[in-house]
Amino acid sequence: MSRKIEERKKSHLEISLKENVEADITAGFDDVILVHQALPEITRSEIDISAELFGHLLKAPLVIESMTGGATEGAKINRVLAECAEEHGFAIGVGSQRAAIEKPQLRKTYSIVRDYAPNALIFANIGCPQLASGYGVEEAKIAIEMMKADALMVHTNPLQESIQLEGEPNFKGVLEKIREIASSLDVPLILKETGTGISGETASKIQMAGAKGIDVAGAGGTSWAAVEYFRAVQAGNKLQQALGKTFRNWGIPTCASIVEASRSTNLTVIASGGLRSGLDIAKSIALGAAAGGVALPLLVAAVRGKRRLSETATTMVEELKTAMFLVGARNLKDLGKAPLVLIGKTAHWLNERGYSTCEYARRKAFLQ
Ligand SMILES: Cc1cc2nc3c(=O)[nH]c(=O)nc-3n(C[C@H](O)[C@H](O)[C@H](O)COP(=O)(O)O)c2cc1C
Repeated sequence: MSRKIEERKKSHLEISLKENVEADITAGFDDVILVHQALPEITRSEIDISAELFGHLLKAPLVIESMTGGATEGAKINRVLAECAEEHGFAIGVGSQRAAIEKPQLRKTYSIVRDYAPNALIFANIGCPQLASGYGVEEAKIAIEMMKADALMVHTNPLQESIQLEGEPNFKGVLEKIREIASSLDVPLILKETGTGISGETASKIQMAGAKGIDVAGAGGTSWAAVEYFRAVQAGNKLQQALGKTFRNWGIPTCASIVEASRSTNLTVIASGGLRSGLDIAKSIALGAAAGGVALPLLVAAVRGKRRLSETATTMVEELKTAMFLVGARNLKDLGKAPLVLIGKTAHWLNERGYSTCEYARRKAFLQ
């Protein structure tokens, strides 16, 4: 069983690095316009981008999203990602720890992240389908202990399970399991999507179940229907290919999901899914997120080495600071109040869903 999981994880990595696995729809960042302030009345050097996330102080509001572990290649990548998290003061997640829960020899491929990021905010990771098929408090605690993690991410991926050749599309009883796990842990539980977003309705349910955070992982970035489509091509499975193609762009675009999740709950929201620059992180925070998460671009940089990854990270940090300078935000609290305008599909979506968008346009300039 776990040998198969290892092979699958390896093929996910290879496909994500080789093929075009991004959705054709956008995450919505072009629809979010931060209002330029021609007299920002601050110096760029005084901008403070430190962020508090789940009681942990980050040097920058960036989460290296959950991606890998379980295979030799995964361990190498996790090491480079962990070094980056430690150097830049980011938070970091690991890929689903199922493989190592079932095969303890693989634990090192995940725990290497703690070895190389001793001070980072680290997220452990288990999946909803495993909760539906028997995992519970015990496995959650093993995952957390393995990483000496500061929080647990429970990922949900109904789209991927529907397309994947070996998919387990069973989510019965998951909410109850989340409730049980959340009440038994002494670290926060975060519900995380994987590229199709979290609606206001789901966000409210998981707040009621005791989760402390949401990682929206909305549509517009890596598409798991696309990744599994390429695996179906390799396997010559026509039906799963057709499903993968049809559902490639399924989901709630990230910007809409950030607003839905942050306005329907008072949970800490991490924005991810198609964030490709520090400007996207700035827009996410102005929409209501506490931090931005990035997966695919950091994976691509990490396989090219530590230096390339550090350059990519530095660019994102500088883009975030530049956006903050241009709206006159001294810190992330200011950025959260920065006037913005929502246009296009995102504005339309939110209006249709009953989230008033004029509030964003009406925000008073806070610079006087
Ligand atoms: C190669 C790869 C593996 C991933 N594996 C996991 C995983 O095991 N668990 C999880 O919660 N998310 C996983 N994700 C999803 C990411 O954490 C993230 O939510 C998603 O890719 C959207 O971000 P992006 O558009 O920046 O890639 C994976 C993403 C990639 C690219």
